[in-house]
Amino acid sequence: MLLFHLKHAVMKDLIRAKTLISENVERLLNQQVKMEAYSSAVYLAMASWCNRNGFDYSSEYFFKQAEEEREHQLKFYKYILDMGGNAVSPDVTINKHEYNSFREVFEDALDQEVNVTQSIKNIYANCLKEQDFVTNEFLNWFLREQREEEYKARRALELFDVIGEQGTGNWEIDKHIGKIKYDSEV
Ligand SMILES: [Fe+2]
Ligand SMILES: [Fe+2]
Repeated sequence: MLLFHLKHAVMKDLIRAKTLISENVERLLNQQVKMEAYSSAVYLAMASWCNRNGFDYSSEYFFKQAEEEREHQLKFYKYILDMGGNAVSPDVTINKHEYNSFREVFEDALDQEVNVTQSIKNIYANCLKEQDFVTNEFLNWFLREQREEEYKARRALELFDVIGEQGTGNWEIDKHIGKIKYDSEV
């Protein structure tokens, strides 16, 4: 039995020798793969709801967001493999397909982006502890991306207060959602 454990431990070390990331970081990155896939699926549900309710610009906006989240998922996925780790194709289920209001869609979208930022910061903190500077360098792109993602989500929600939902307000808001841009050189 002891021999088995010893052999097992050595085998595990051998496998680890081929990877540049720790088991802990690999687990966190796979968790992030799943989170990005989940975000993509949620944005797709939002695109459907907006389309069905006559908000065409917002529907297009969410289709684009869904595509971007899929790209994020693949970036994490490929990074895990590049580092010699085991990337796990995620199982994703979403249970919300309907929204009570146009505004609620954007409240959920902002919540989601804030959660993603928190999650990436958590991986960053873990990597710092482990001195995994390689992964942190990879994560820098995502930190910048989250700045843009949160900006856009906040800007969209602000439109509800600035324009107001009365009368044709929601249709006016929808038109402006199509024009939200974030270009920062810094
Ligand atoms: Fe993302
Ligand atoms: Fe995002």
